[in-house]
Amino acid sequence: MRKKIVAGNWKMNLDYNEGLALFSEVINIVKDEATGSQQVVVCSPFIHLHSLVQLAKGYNNIAVGAQNAHQNESGAYTGETSAKQVKSTGAEYVILGHSERRQYFGETNELLAAKTDTALKNDLKPIFCIGETLQEREAGSHFGIIKSQLEEGVFHLDAAAFGKLVIAYEPVWAIGTGVTATSEQAQEIHAYIRKEIADKYSQQVADDTTILYGGSCNPKNAAELFAQADIDGGLIGGASLKSRDFADIVKAFN
Ligand code: G3P
Repeated sequence: MRKKIVAGNWKMNLDYNEGLALFSEVINIVKDEATGSQQVVVCSPFIHLHSLVQLAKGYNNIAVGAQNAHQNESGAYTGETSAKQVKSTGAEYVILGHSERRQYFGETNELLAAKTDTALKNDLKPIFCIGETLQEREAGSHFGIIKSQLEEGVFHLDAAAFGKLVIAYEPVWAIGTGVTATSEQAQEIHAYIRKEIADKYSQQVADDTTILYGGSCNPKNAAELFAQADIDGGLIGGASLKSRDFADIVKAFN
């Protein structure tokens, strides 16, 4: 059975102490909520990773992730952080391909394929983000965009490697805008993603893949989104910065 995940993406928010305080609150509230195949993941800036991993010790359903990692193993890349360095903090996950990285840092599908390989090689689980812009949706090209992001970003992997990924569908027009995809719109794309995975690998691989929805997910809309057949949880931005809201989204699983 595939994992259900609620992942927080703190983005470039919270100083060191604020991050530790928020994570401690989150642990206290959600520790009894996520059970069985449910997992809570917090993806923080690099500065928090090691400390969050220490705080999460003993809680099997709470894990920590980074928001990026470099495609090369090491070297003269001032200001960058390698997958191996992320892994050495004890973090389990890494977000790759977030639309903000694609948009502001010019990350292409080709680069993201390389980052995915390096992350997997270093035993990190990528949360691989895909999603169309508003113009692409209005032009009716959203299915094609999703398909090429999958084909060029992750479909070079063999089935065993692909099985380590989490996919996150984040329509760019819904990120930080307060405009959420309707549960029907999100379900339609999630079903399409699962079908593409089945066509590429097998129905079994598709059925085992966790596909998260991200984009203005909040305590009010989470339950309806998560009730859709192909939505296996969420990747949460703004609402992950408030412990109560984040915990309420985790509770939306129940
Ligand atoms: O990765 C999470 C994300 O981009 C969604 O952000 O603030 O719309 O929940 P937000």
